[in-house]
Order: sequence, then structure tokens, then C-alpha cells
Amino acid sequence: MKNLYSKKIINLSPSPTLKLNALAKEMKDNGIDVVGLTAGEPDFPTPTHIKRAAMYAIQENYSKYTANCGIIELRKSIALKLQKENNITCNHENIIVTNGAKHAIYNALQSICNKGDEVIIGAPYWVSYPEMIKLADAKPIIINTNEKTNYKVTIQQLKKVISKKTKAFLFSTPSNPTGNVYSEDELREIAAIAKKYNFFIIADEIYEKLLYDGAKHFSIGSILDVKDLVLTVNGLSKSFAMTGWRLGYLCANKNIIQLADKLQGQMTSNASSISQMAAIEALNNRKSGEVIEAMRKVFEERRNYLFDVISSIPKITCTKPEGAFFLFPNVSNYLGKKFNGKIIKTVDALGEYFLNEVKLAFVPGSGFGSKNCFRISYAESMESLKIAGERLIQGFKNLK
Ligand SMILES: Cc1ncc(COP(=O)(O)O)c(C=O)c1O
Repeated sequence: MKNLYSKKIINLSPSPTLKLNALAKEMKDNGIDVVGLTAGEPDFPTPTHIKRAAMYAIQENYSKYTANCGIIELRKSIALKLQKENNITCNHENIIVTNGAKHAIYNALQSICNKGDEVIIGAPYWVSYPEMIKLADAKPIIINTNEKTNYKVTIQQLKKVISKKTKAFLFSTPSNPTGNVYSEDELREIAAIAKKYNFFIIADEIYEKLLYDGAKHFSIGSILDVKDLVLTVNGLSKSFAMTGWRLGYLCANKNIIQLADKLQGQMTSNASSISQMAAIEALNNRKSGEVIEAMRKVFEERRNYLFDVISSIPKITCTKPEGAFFLFPNVSNYLGKKFNGKIIKTVDALGEYFLNEVKLAFVPGSGFGSKNCFRISYAESMESLKIAGERLIQGFKNLK
């Protein structure tokens, strides 16, 4: 029989984080007391001054299509932010406003990749990277990292996989799922390699504001030598607690922005006009800095609490994340243990056991390219984290 559906989309993996979120929510809706640590978004509301700007925009009828690549005032505000905070030399012509950072990564990959190109990513990676690379007809080249390097790709590893087909290296700092942060020195080394072998770097900096223990964020796009090779992705979702507003952006050389503009013009058109007006306020009002800092401090307390819980569980190892809002413990010593006579062989089975028997939801590492770890999010209230902490300890104790 004739196949009426797209093979490309049939073969696409669904987002495992969204799937587990939905499952935990369904259980909660059915009255089951599940603690969900699957969230990839801040639990805080959007700051009041940003919401007010959006309400004003609605009242004043900012309800029409905007320029496809974003309201000029917003593009200028983004360029100014990148110059001031990230040291990136750019102006509004280097910016396209997108429907979330995810869309910015998609636009970036579609604008640079041709069939057969290779895009390098380190595992564990953010779940959408390999699928988006495949959607751009390119091949994900995966470098397996480990705890010894805090799950960061080393220069030696990078050099080993570079080929004539290498189009880009794509990474996030701070990282989802590990929370680890690339240092300036590490990024300078990566930049030198990209220049030598002439490939792009896509730097996903969506968690840049969520840093702990005095860690510093460095933007690889600020290195003048590779200015035209770096595509910087960011957005308002995580820093400003605006995940649902769908507001992201891409900063890149003008050729790439023109291609992304053309693609976006045929796909989605502009990001929401209301969200764009709110974003102008978010980026320009000084109050944002205070609110972000207050959120960051709360996240740091939660990270400390949950990290101590995880560290107290025998035979689990975990790198202490310097950013984002996730922990990524290695539970390989528990795989092969039993609950009620049933062997738990994989991290997926461990996830199912915790959800069904312990009423605690987290995301197994398999979706991030890791067979030994799982991701827990601390974007939840301290009250929930305390219950989660007890359940984690008990859940692992139950495995024999
Ligand atoms: C590493 C990383 N990049 C990009 C995104 C997408 O952000 P947005 O919601 O703005 O599309 C996420 C969201 O979870 C993320 O974790």
C-alpha cells in the first residue's frame, strides 16, 4: 500500500522530556501523589514588569505581523545586550528573533547544513540536538564524554572526529543536562580548532544567567578571530521565566541571518508581537537584573540541597553542576539490582520503577545519550524537593 506519511518524521524521536512531563502530569491529574522533577523550566512566574509590558502591548493593539526577523527596537536591544554582557561585536543586522531558542537552533542548522554534512555534539547532549541535525539532512557525530572532564568535550576528542564533512560543533554552556560550564580557556581552544579547520560553532547559551559558586559565563562569540564562525543562540525562556512566551534569538554573521530570515519567512513568520514587546521591556528595564538574581539565588540553594541528598546515597556519583537547574547523577552501580524480584537493567527501567513504585518522576539519561545517568530538575519548590529527597533515598535503598 502507498505510504501517505513522511518517513523523516516517522523516524524522528519524540522529545523524552516532554513525554515524561506529560506522564507525571497525567498521574497527578488522576490524584496520584507524584513528585515531578522532570521540568525544563523555572517554576517562577514571569516578572510583573514584563507582564505589564505585554498587557500594555495588547491594549495598544500591537496585534499585527511584525517584521519577519523581529521588531527593530528589539533586535537593537538584543544586540546591545550581547555587546554589553557578552562582549560580542554585533548590531541588529546580526540578529533574528525566533519562536524560542529551540527555533533559533533549528534555523541555524537549516541555514548552514547540506546533505552529508556532519555536526559534532558531545554526549550527554540536549535531547533535541541530534534530531534537529537529522532534520537538516546532516549527520550527528557524537563524542562520548565522562565525569573526568565534567562531561565536557576535550580538544583531543574534538580533533579526532573532525573531517572534511564537519560543518559545525554544537554545544550548550551551561549545559542541559549536566549543568556544567565551559571555561574561557576551553572555549578559546575550541575556537582555535574551528578556525583552523573552518567550521561553525553553535553556542547555545540559554542558561547563561543561572550560574553558581561564582562561575563565570564566557561567550565564544566574543572571540574576534572566529566572530563570523560563531552562531550564538539565546532567549528569554529560562533567565526571565518566560518559557511559554516563545521568545528566542540567533546572533550570527549577516549571511546566516539572511538565510534564517528567508526560512522563517516561509515557515512561521515573526515571533509573537506581544512577546516581542514584553522582551523589549525585559531586556531594557533594570528591574530584570534584580529579579533574575533573586531566582538564581533560590536555584543555588535548591541545587545545594539536592546535591547533598544525591551525594549521601551510596554508590552514586555526581559532578557538582555550576549552572542551569539540573543534576545528572551516575547510577550505573544500581543497574542490575532488583525490586520485588524484578531486575532493573536500564536507566529507563529505573525511571519507570521510580515513577510507579516511588512516585518520583525524573528523566532517564537515554534521551540525552547516556545509559548510566538520569536527569533531575530542581526547578521545583523546596517543599517538593524535600519530599523528592526522601523518596530518592528510599527508592535506592529498596533496590537489592
Ligand atoms: C539547552 C537548551 N537549549 C534550548 C532550549 C530551548 O529553549 P526555548 O524554550 O527558548 O525554545 C532548551 C529548553 O529546554 C534547552 O534546555
